[in-house]
Amino acid sequence: MTKYFLHSTSSAKTEFPKELLIWNYWDHEHIVGTHFEHYKKVNIIYEDDKVCFSERWAKLPFVPFYLKTTDFCIMTNENQMDVHHYAFFNLIYCKQKFNFEEYAPNKCKVTKHDYIQVPKFMKFLQPLFNKIMQKWFINVWEEDMPMRIRRLRVWKLGFRDFHGIDYINNPKLNKSIDKNRNYTVKLPIPKITHIKNKSYEKTFLRIINKSKHIGYGLPDL
Ligand SMILES: [Fe+2]
Repeated sequence: MTKYFLHSTSSAKTEFPKELLIWNYWDHEHIVGTHFEHYKKVNIIYEDDKVCFSERWAKLPFVPFYLKTTDFCIMTNENQMDVHHYAFFNLIYCKQKFNFEEYAPNKCKVTKHDYIQVPKFMKFLQPLFNKIMQKWFINVWEEDMPMRIRRLRVWKLGFRDFHGIDYINNPKLNKSIDKNRNYTVKLPIPKITHIKNKSYEKTFLRIINKSKHIGYGLPDL
């Protein structure tokens, strides 16, 4: 049967550095937290500084049950990330291409291209697929926004992963804010919230299913 790709494109401009957005996309821990309404489990089988091979249990639009997907994510180059998704005994195949374009210093535009492989007779679903994926992009984008804002804010205060902020840890130090601190990211991102199993895999389970604001709403530092 002849195969055909439905496609959709979404994009948004941000006030964030490119590296911060890449950090967000490569942070698998928040998937079962921030996006808990869509995901209940993530299992990383392998990852390094360019690829991540994982499994996700996702609730997709119009699918009434959790679907296990196998996902292969690649940093194709410093401005592009490709993701391949397989589901339902590999009968479903989707691919995504993310482009990161710094349109101004520390300001990045993200463009996402979605493709899903279908039999050619289903090409009439193109407008519907486009609409669903654009809505999905906006919903997930809005869910990610608070953690991006908070990450950039604490970064400017000198935050370091698993260390914190010096002047908070040591009250004798003066508060200092470096608005020009260059944002850097190093893949893979260190993780601590996975359950400890006997393999090298890292499994993250959803622990909340009611409050989407957990961890948010704290007073400014
Ligand atoms: Fe996210």
